[in-house]
Amino acid sequence: MKRRTLLGAGLAAAATAASQIARATRGLPSPKIKDVSVIATAPEGLRLTVVKITTDQDGLYGYGCGTFTQRAELVNLAVERYLRPFLAGKPADRIDDLWQAMYDSSYWRNGPVLNNAISGVDQALWDIKGRMANMPVYQLLGGKHREAVDCYTHADGSEIPQVIDNARRFMAQGFRHVRCQIGIPGMAGYGSSRGDVKVDALHSGPVFEPNFYFRRAVKMLEECRTQLGDEVELLHDAHERLPPILAIQFAKAVEPIRLFFLEDVLSPEDIAYFRNIRQQCATPLAMGELFNSPHEWTPLVSERLIDFIRMHVTQMGGLTPARKAAAFAEQFGVRTAWHGPGDVSPVGHAANVALDLACYNFGIQEYSHFGDRTREVFSGMPEMKNGYLYANEAPGWGIEIDEKAAAKFPFGYGESGERKQMNGGWGEIRRRDGTIIKQ
Ligand code: CO
Repeated sequence: MKRRTLLGAGLAAAATAASQIARATRGLPSPKIKDVSVIATAPEGLRLTVVKITTDQDGLYGYGCGTFTQRAELVNLAVERYLRPFLAGKPADRIDDLWQAMYDSSYWRNGPVLNNAISGVDQALWDIKGRMANMPVYQLLGGKHREAVDCYTHADGSEIPQVIDNARRFMAQGFRHVRCQIGIPGMAGYGSSRGDVKVDALHSGPVFEPNFYFRRAVKMLEECRTQLGDEVELLHDAHERLPPILAIQFAKAVEPIRLFFLEDVLSPEDIAYFRNIRQQCATPLAMGELFNSPHEWTPLVSERLIDFIRMHVTQMGGLTPARKAAAFAEQFGVRTAWHGPGDVSPVGHAANVALDLACYNFGIQEYSHFGDRTREVFSGMPEMKNGYLYANEAPGWGIEIDEKAAAKFPFGYGESGERKQMNGGWGEIRRRDGTIIKQ
């Protein structure tokens, strides 16, 4: 080889090395947001909102969950009419900065519609960053604390033996944690059916009486502990339906059952009563699925009044505020139990799992099964094995969406009766005398 050729090859190698160093130290070229759109789909009859962000770099895009199923169309409008023009041309790699900018851009903030819209964008930006880095999002958050995510699932029934049978079925599938809910004859219990009984009431709609629920739920949980043994972790959701003084009694009554946690024993309006519960018993307390704002969870965590934060990640504004809340809670020994119902899209469940893997103070994850129609639209979801969810190891969330399949299940799909009439919204539940109660 001639000296001149050798010199040329050397120069070329040096140039490649320099560009590699530049790439490693300064990162990939900053992608700009090209478009923000909404994928609105309801494969299982629950309205799911997924935000898609495309960038000026070919093939670089991301998905984020902004699902607020009861007011879904408003979230979609907030994304398309307000965030889309706000974000056009902005750098897609400045996630926290864009979060602050979006949050402040409406001046009035902290509401569920806008928080969900911001979450859709926020999670899509994390997906994009993961795809740029060629890593799953949990790696961007620091990597795994654990191999997989321990989950609980829901056993319910209109009678106690049914609840116990269902719990046994889940335990046989490998679940170590089971949430148990019981129906109240003739009443609209939460997470369970009411049976065939008709209750006398001064109205014809769904009925609920806190005292009936109280007696039946305590009895059911006692029976579950006796029949299912000491090893299984039992959970229960009071779903914010008890007046504060009954909530205190309930937490005390179930203390000997040694629940893994008691969820939403107070409504967000009554959270100052957690202090009273704490003074009187050691039942582990989980709270937060209706919270929008740090004003709600910060005092409960810093005063060590609850044991688990279980916010709905999209409702609080996405992964960005959720990871901050988790880090904050870690300092106080409070663990995470992110809300994981069916009205979170698979993208949102993947975000939960990324947090679960990467946060030291993970407590437990609520699990919802992905049905066949959901799998037709979404691929790459976390997979359930023996009560553990396993993350997809593909870059970003690892989820892809078939938009043609999504269009086969438009909003309203599978809805009937009141729900259809109210555009996916919820109806009302009243006491026997007609007083409205919390859902
Ligand atoms: Co709940």
